Formats: sequence, C-alpha cells, structure tokens
Amino acid sequence: MNEQIVKVAEITQLTPRIKSLRLVSADEKRLAAFSPGSHVAIEITLKQKKRYNSYSLCSSPYKTDSYEIAVLLSENSRGVSQYLHQLSVETELNIGFPKNSFSMFSLARKYVLIAGGIGITPLLSMLTALSRSKTPFELHYAAKSPEECAFYKFLQQQYSSQVKFYFSKKGDRLDPKQVLKEQPLGTHLYLCAPHSLMADCRSAAQALGYPNSAIHRELFGAVKTNKVKPFTAILAQSKKEVEVTPDQTLLEALEAADIAANYSCRAGGCGACEVKVLEGEIIHLDSYYSSEEKAAQDRILACISRAKSKQLVIDL
Ligand code: FES
Repeated sequence: MNEQIVKVAEITQLTPRIKSLRLVSADEKRLAAFSPGSHVAIEITLKQKKRYNSYSLCSSPYKTDSYEIAVLLSENSRGVSQYLHQLSVETELNIGFPKNSFSMFSLARKYVLIAGGIGITPLLSMLTALSRSKTPFELHYAAKSPEECAFYKFLQQQYSSQVKFYFSKKGDRLDPKQVLKEQPLGTHLYLCAPHSLMADCRSAAQALGYPNSAIHRELFGAVKTNKVKPFTAILAQSKKEVEVTPDQTLLEALEAADIAANYSCRAGGCGACEVKVLEGEIIHLDSYYSSEEKAAQDRILACISRAKSKQLVIDL
C-alpha cells in the first residue's frame, strides 16, 4: 500500500455506535487531495496480521490539512472498528492515498443523494462540492432515530432546506418511488445504504425510466456467511501457493505473501480486486456481481469472497 502517515487529531462520538476521527499528517505535510466520494484504506495490525479497511472521506474535498472519517462499531469488521473506536488522540496510523470508486458525474442537471445509516459518509464530500458549485441537489437520509443519525445536527444546520430525514423508530419510511418520480430529466442518483434500501432505490429508479448510467452506487458490507473456512489459493502463473486463514481475506493473504494485487474499496463494492478463477468453487460475498455473474464461477473479488472448495486456482 502506498502510504501516508497520519495521527489522530480529534475524536468525536457522533452516535452511540459511530465515532468520527480527524486525521492530520504526522509530519505536518499536506495530505493528498481527493475528489468527492473518495475513500482511504487504513492499515491496522491485529494479532500480528495486517488488516486494511476502507473509510470514506467525509471532510471537505477542498481542504488537505486534515481528513475526517466516521467509523461504525461493527461486529463484522474482524476487530478493525473496535480497534479504531479505542484509539486516542495522537495515535499514528498508516493510510493509503485516496481512491474513488464513487465519483460524481459532473454534468447532471440535478443530484438526488440517498443515504442509509453509515452510508451518509461518502455523500458528505459530495454535498460540499454541490453546495459550492450551487448545483441543485436533495439528500434523503434514513436512520433509526435522530440520536442514531450521524451528522444530524450538522446537516440540519448546513442544508436544512435540501435534506429530508426518515427515522424508522418514529415510523417514517423512505419511499424511493415518491422521492424519484418528480425529478427533472437529467437527474443523477447517488446511493449508499444497506443492501435492501439500495436494491429498492435501484428498482424504483429503473421502473421510472432512469438510465443505468444515472444510477450510482457505493456498496458496502459483505453478505453474511457462517461458512468461513481456510483454503489454499494456487497461483497458476507464478506457481505459488498461498494459504488463506479464516480470519484473512484472499487479498490480505496475497499481500502478506508480497504478491501484487489491485484493490480500491476493500469492501466488495467496486470490482478493482477482481481475479480470474480457473478451478474451484467460489462463495461470492460481494454486492458487486449480478446473480448471473456469480453463477458463472469464473471470477472472484479477492477483498471479500472466499473459496467453497479446499483449493482455488487463480490467474495470478
Ligand atoms: S477492492 Fe473493491 S471490490 Fe474488492
């Protein structure tokens, strides 16, 4: 991973399960610039193994003196979010350079942004850019309650007339059809939410005639499985074998073995870590491939999916 070394400058408890971290350069240099929708990978060593999780940059894309990320305390993060929630100010971290798999189309007539829970994070830098360029936009944000809604006060203060909240504990429901049906031609939709809300929004948009090129999604989170078993990746080109332990992804095992592998989101949402599979059975845990693509069993997203068989022969 190409790295920047940062230190934690400020920690804010946004909700009972979400903390934001403000990160500054550890050597007082400027941080790398980023575009709206970008994320960075954070490297953490847990039980002597390197882990990398990606987090969206929530801060202004016009500022490079610090980055802000928000971390949801999650049981599925293999200890990474727990670790980040226990950090104190001044702790140093290695992070990657910003990458963007959710970039903004610059010529939309209007932008409709839909967030569910922690899915608000990649949309925040977009709001800054849209507001600065005075481009029409709306944000629709679903959360359980105001107390569990990250950046609630900030959004109310900054964008009160352009944001609508939906709190499920109060019985409010975000109806994608209602949100999308009266929008002008040329509207682009940006979605970052749990799988079910994302699927509902996408279906509603398609039914209303939005072209696929106007529906942009940032996917996060693996499909749950309890079948996490070790397997051996056999690299057909380099004739190497790499053991993938139950608490490692294929991507992490390749990196630990010093084998160059592409990645961006590290969350099964962008396709950057795709590897061809020549033999073996795959358990697809991503939200990127269609069911037909998954059924073909010929490609794997190394950052998230695993082998069902004991061995997987891959084209590396
Ligand atoms: S890095 Fe994005 S899907 Fe694997």
